[in-house]
Amino acid sequence: MAGAETNLEQKRKRAMARLKAALENPTLLTEVPPAGRSEPAPAGLSALGLALRNWRAFLRGGLAAALEAEQPLAGEPSLRDPFRMTVAEYHQRYFQSTFMRNIFWMGVPTLKMVSDLWIYQEIIHQARPDIVVEIGSHFGGSTLFLAHLLDQVGHGDILSIDISREVYLAKHPRISEITGDSGSGAVIEQVRERTAGLKTMVVHDGDHSEAAVRRDLEAYGDLVSRGQFLIVEDSIVDVFNPARYRLREMDGGPLPAIRAFVEARPGRFEITDLHRRFLLSASPFGYLKRIED
Ligand SMILES: C[S@@+](CC[C@H](N)C(=O)[O-])C[C@H]1O[C@@H](n2cnc3c(N)ncnc32)[C@H](O)[C@@H]1O
Repeated sequence: MAGAETNLEQKRKRAMARLKAALENPTLLTEVPPAGRSEPAPAGLSALGLALRNWRAFLRGGLAAALEAEQPLAGEPSLRDPFRMTVAEYHQRYFQSTFMRNIFWMGVPTLKMVSDLWIYQEIIHQARPDIVVEIGSHFGGSTLFLAHLLDQVGHGDILSIDISREVYLAKHPRISEITGDSGSGAVIEQVRERTAGLKTMVVHDGDHSEAAVRRDLEAYGDLVSRGQFLIVEDSIVDVFNPARYRLREMDGGPLPAIRAFVEARPGRFEITDLHRRFLLSASPFGYLKRIED
């Protein structure tokens, strides 16, 4: 019927509406309690009671440590009580450097949420790209992970772009590197040449400021082939209030850039719901599928 919206169009509209709401309300996913959620010490709890209740802290540091263990940790989720964390608290915990910097793929550090890596696996298996352009590799754990996924499907190469190779460790026959600024004309030109005529997927995990993501999406987003994905990482910084979460400050992150990119290409990219699959994702609204040329 003329004028009737397809399911896909309706889905895309709903996703755009949710993205708009996320941009307008940074606590959309879930409100964060101002401090830890540990239960306060009941009034009149005796020194013995405190010592018994927090015996580990007591053994380490005496009564003062036992008392401190009763207090919510300022700005921290309840680390003593992980099963009562909210999803937001879990994200905060994950993004704390000690946690995030201790995740490895085959010995190479990666700065991903493991739930997102599983989504990558499903995408690669389904979409089978000829080439994956990864903008921002850092240590290379995510790059090596992608290369191993391509090994499993028996097809495809990775083109890793990074402005620096100082800490980069990935080595694999499917990976080739371009070292330089993703915003430079020379790098863009090389990537265009390398991807010409190939089923191309792009992962953006470089500079996450809004201006840089806008620039990179304009330069590389249209290289993504129909049926392939454009993954824009770390929009979590827009959804969670960075000040509360103590993430680094930025004027705007990837979300407004994603929105501008998709809106400028009506009907071409679907903002999928993949980020919702495991509740835990660093990239809300960051899994875009190309649905039209
Ligand atoms: C978040 S890290 C990448 C993490 C990696 N993909 C992973 O999941 O393990 C961001 C990387 O982007 C790189 N980067 C930042 N700005 C860049 C730019 N303008 N051009 C190219 N690379 C850039 C940084 O050097 C850094 O290695």
